[in-house]
Amino acid sequence: MAHPIPVRHTRHLLADGAAATKTAAEFLRSGGLVGFPTETVYGLGADATNAQAVAELYAAKGRPAFNPLISHYAHAADAMHSGHFTPAARALAEAFWPGPLTLVVPFAGGDICDLARAGLNTVALRVPDHPVAHALLAAFGGPVVAPSANRSGHVSPTTAEHVLGDLSGRIDAVLDSGPTEVGVESTIIDATGPVPRLLRPGGITRAQIEAVLGHILADAHHDDAERPASPGRLASHYAPRAPVRLNSLSVEPGEALLTFSGAMPPGAEQAATVFDLSPEGDLVQAAARLYDALRTLDAAGARAIAVVPLPRHGLGEAIADRLGRAAAPRPEQGAS
Ligand code: TXA
Ligand code: MG
Repeated sequence: MAHPIPVRHTRHLLADGAAATKTAAEFLRSGGLVGFPTETVYGLGADATNAQAVAELYAAKGRPAFNPLISHYAHAADAMHSGHFTPAARALAEAFWPGPLTLVVPFAGGDICDLARAGLNTVALRVPDHPVAHALLAAFGGPVVAPSANRSGHVSPTTAEHVLGDLSGRIDAVLDSGPTEVGVESTIIDATGPVPRLLRPGGITRAQIEAVLGHILADAHHDDAERPASPGRLASHYAPRAPVRLNSLSVEPGEALLTFSGAMPPGAEQAATVFDLSPEGDLVQAAARLYDALRTLDAAGARAIAVVPLPRHGLGEAIADRLGRAAAPRPEQGAS
């Protein structure tokens, strides 16, 4: 049974001064839901210590309550108080915070509510590297849970307009500072054990992590489909309406084309629309434009989106991960 979601008047706040940040922090303090920019994607923030607010956040997104949330902090020192850090976890925090890295560590106890952690005895922690996110988190003064600010299963938002398109009327405000820089979500590392494992590729590359660890980074095992190591990582996710066809070496009639570095496979000249993630072949630019590309191609109403083969190194791993999920069979219930 779908529960009715109370209608909220959604304020569009331009993040051009302290006043907007202060208003947004007040919404958080009173249990409200606020979209805000980070360096990766826009997050939907709620007070991590307020179970009622977190429950309303799950409802606004249509997100299943078993899927835990990342707690965001302004300062690394405060984040580190919430978890137990192994030497490897500490080294990663020191190297990449603030930045697009999320560390899952044993929960040290404290004020993050059970619902935010979906009842797990671990906690996902992140310190974003974005001036507006930092200002909001500092003004609020406590942990803020923030999943990507989209309806569950939809493409993640990289602009305030994307947030409003998905969540207007369901949240209290969105703090707008233009498009986000990285464009794909944070890298998630399971640092609960002595050897860190990769749960989700993202804005910090595998090579960057390995350079700090001094060894190869193992992937978390997803051998149990019912209980993946990162509960939110179910197959279908980041899904546009149109089906996505990966590694396309040709474009079929009526398809849109998602390409890279100017590649024009046979049939491209008849594509419904063409979006080149990076004409110069730059994977950083491609990551930043990925979700906008999926939305733009989807809006063109093509019957499917053909995607050319893309490089897998550097940010190519996170791009391939998100496109794989966009192409996965659907519908399903667990996406975030
Ligand atoms: O870049 C990002 O990380 C963005 C911005 C807004 O910070 N946030 C984001 O959150 O991507 P979300 O909720 O869309 O993804 C969080 C992921 C989910 O797959 C969830 O299952 C996983 O983190 N996660 C959270 N807590 C966990 C835990 N204790 N153990 C394992 N995975 C966890
Ligand atoms: Mg998400």
